[in-house]
Amino acid sequence: MQYQWYPGHMAKAKKIMQEDMKLIDVVIELLDARIPYSSKNPDIDQLTKNKSRVILLNKADMADARVNSLWKEYFESRGFFVAMVNSREGTGIRQVQDIVNKACEEKRERDRKKGILYRPVRAMIVGIPNVGKSTFINSFVGRATAKTGNKPGVTKGKQWIRLDKYTELLDTPGILWPKFEEQTVGLHLALVGSINDNILDTANLALELILKLNKSYPQALTDRYNINQPPAELDLKEAGKILEEIAIKRACLQKGGEADTQKAAYLLLDDFRNARLGNITLEYPKYVP
Ligand code: G4P
Repeated sequence: MQYQWYPGHMAKAKKIMQEDMKLIDVVIELLDARIPYSSKNPDIDQLTKNKSRVILLNKADMADARVNSLWKEYFESRGFFVAMVNSREGTGIRQVQDIVNKACEEKRERDRKKGILYRPVRAMIVGIPNVGKSTFINSFVGRATAKTGNKPGVTKGKQWIRLDKYTELLDTPGILWPKFEEQTVGLHLALVGSINDNILDTANLALELILKLNKSYPQALTDRYNINQPPAELDLKEAGKILEEIAIKRACLQKGGEADTQKAAYLLLDDFRNARLGNITLEYPKYVP
C-alpha cells in the first residue's frame, strides 16, 4: 500500500516484468472492479504483447453488479478472457481455472503442432498495489497442489505453483504502477483507499465522493445517513453542507457543538471503502477515454 513510484522504481519494475514475460504464456491481470480504468497499468499492453490475457475484476463484491457486467462485456469485446471475483471470500475463484485454461488453449494447440506435448502453460498474476494480488493467489492456490520448486536452467530463482496437470503459476505477482499522472485516476485510487499519499486532504476527498455519489448513486447517502435528498446538481460548497449534515446526523461534533466535518469525512470515506454505502462503482466503460 505504501507505494511511492519514482521513475527509478518504475524502470526497475518494468525490467522485472520484461524478464518474467519471457517465461510466461498467460498474464492474469487483476483490476479493482470499482475502478477498472484507474486500476489498470498504462503500459501493460505493450509489456504483454503476444501473451494470452485474462482480466479479473477483483473486489466484485464491493462493486455495482450491473456495472461489473458492463466491464466484463467491454473487456471481452477487446479479446480478453474475463471473470469477476471476490478473492477475500473465494467467490468466482473456481471459474478462473476454466478461464485460464481457455486462454491457454491456443498456446497448447501451437505446442501440439510442434510435437510438444507435456510442457505446462505458465501464468503470472499482475496488478497495481492493493488490488488484491496476494489475497487472490492465496485463495486460488489454496485448491492447488504444492509448489513445484525451482527448475534450474529454465526458471532460475523462480517458484512455480502447479495449478493442475497443465498449468503453472509464478508464485510472486508482478507489481505494476497506475496511471497516476491522470488526476482523476489519482482521485479514484485515493477514494477506494489504494494510495495514501493523499493527492487531496481527507475533507476534500469526502466532498469529491459526495459529488460522485450524488450523481450516480443518490440513494446511497440518503439511505445511510438519513439526510434530505440533495438536488441533482451540486457544487463543492453544497457538498460541504451535506458533509455538515452527515456530521450532525452521526454526532460528529466539536466541543462547541458545531459539526466536525473532518471526523465526518473520515467516517464517510471509511463507510465507502468498506461498502457500507452499498455496492458502488466509480467508473463506467463508456467513460474510458
Ligand atoms: P496486493 O497484494 O495487490 O497489494 O493486495 P492484497 O492482497 O494485500 O489486498 C489488499 C486489500 O484488499 C486487503 O484488505 C484484502 O483483504 C482486500 N481484498 C482483496 N481482494 C478482495 C476482494 O475480492 N474483496 C474485498 N472486499 N476485499 C478484497 P486489507 O484491509 O488491506 O487487509 P485485511 O483487512 O484483509 O487484512
